Amino acid sequence: MSDWQKTDWRIKPRVQMPDYTDAAALAAVEAQLSAYPPLVFAGEVRTLKKQLAAAARGESFLLQGGDCAESFEQFSADGIRDTFKVMLQMAMVLTFGAKVPVVKVGRMAGQFAKPRSANTETINGVELPSYRGDIINELAFTPEARIPDPKKMLQAYTQAAATLNLLRAFSTGGYADVHQVHSWTLGFTGGDQAAEYREMANRISDALDFMRAAGLDSDHEPSLKTVDFYTSHESLLLEYEEALCRLDSTSGKWLAGSGHMIWIGDRTRQPDGAHVEYARGVQNPIGLKCGPTTTADDLKVLMNKLNPENEEGRLTLIARFGAGSVAEHLPRLIKAVKEEGANVLWTCDAMHGNTIKSSTGYKTRPFESVLREVREFFGVHSAEGTIPGGVHFEMTGQDVTECTGGVRAVSDENLSDRYHTACDPRLNASQSLELAFLVAEELSARRGAAQAQAV
Ligand code: PEP
Ligand code: CO
Repeated sequence: MSDWQKTDWRIKPRVQMPDYTDAAALAAVEAQLSAYPPLVFAGEVRTLKKQLAAAARGESFLLQGGDCAESFEQFSADGIRDTFKVMLQMAMVLTFGAKVPVVKVGRMAGQFAKPRSANTETINGVELPSYRGDIINELAFTPEARIPDPKKMLQAYTQAAATLNLLRAFSTGGYADVHQVHSWTLGFTGGDQAAEYREMANRISDALDFMRAAGLDSDHEPSLKTVDFYTSHESLLLEYEEALCRLDSTSGKWLAGSGHMIWIGDRTRQPDGAHVEYARGVQNPIGLKCGPTTTADDLKVLMNKLNPENEEGRLTLIARFGAGSVAEHLPRLIKAVKEEGANVLWTCDAMHGNTIKSSTGYKTRPFESVLREVREFFGVHSAEGTIPGGVHFEMTGQDVTECTGGVRAVSDENLSDRYHTACDPRLNASQSLELAFLVAEELSARRGAAQAQAV
């Protein structure tokens, strides 16, 4: 993409981005960020791309998860550690189910900017601009708080750098040692209906105990001590993205330095729009949300724009249709991919099509709907003979009450207890783990079916 420039998006139609009023303040922030180091290195991005290519072939599985929106106020080491830990636990359960490596990608260290369904919000007759994420404005419902402030990009960069620093330390410094992670299985008891999860947890514990007894511990096998953990976010605030875009001297290609993987949201995937224009020029793996309004023709144009060389691992299609709607929409997109002979990784975002308003007024997502969408996603791929290569969740390691259901049964009435999200409702630690067990069942069933076919 030699003729591509990181500023080209500026002449394209843009949606979901703030109109900064102070042009001089914006330019100063952009200049400062442009001089800062990138957060990720091109070599890491290339490795991730290879791992995603393997997931697209069914040789590994992508687990992508984290906050809907990272928050400045709730930023803490414990929060990062807990989400990291739950993702490792989920990955272990999935690895056990699928018998393939799990690629772990956090919605972390950059997931600050939010698209909104309406430009304004009205409370008690007062109308103000919508909150668009901590990198843009503030959640408080006052006119001042809702003014977009470019300086927030600097705070977001600092928080992303500190988050990534801790994630790197956890990944390689001993915290992610498989034997540390395994102690949780003893604690996961679940409810009455969770006997099969307990059974699987026991089998995982047994396998790890056996490995240790056989001398396969982390002292002898360093790969048991460290994990690869990558970061991702929606590439929405393009001034921030452009300021962190760097030319990679090894390959001569552009790198989105803001995170390992970036994605294009369901509201910003216009084929001729600014967001597609930016993403097409960087070498990172790109995610593309596919929703009920994605047409086969649009998808074909987008695949050609975003991955003209049909490179494996470059493009992840993140399906988010909602429980009950997968069979209506996914087959036409799978057909479009087949017709183009396109290399893509199919993953399921089982969150964004399943948001409802609870009887108590909270935005929530029923656990059953999340699970049902995952099952439908696996079912359609099985019918089409294609590969379900990953899952995408909004989740946290904290014990929040934002989504209803799960073995510990969060009810509409419980939602107010610990409803902390800055944007969409997240699965809590227990719900996330429960879901991992259920996805693992789907994966092992698929493997069983694939093996039976091969015989
Ligand atoms: C998100 O992932 O937080 C999001 C806004 O998703 P979508 O673009 O699919 O609605
Ligand atoms: Co969200």
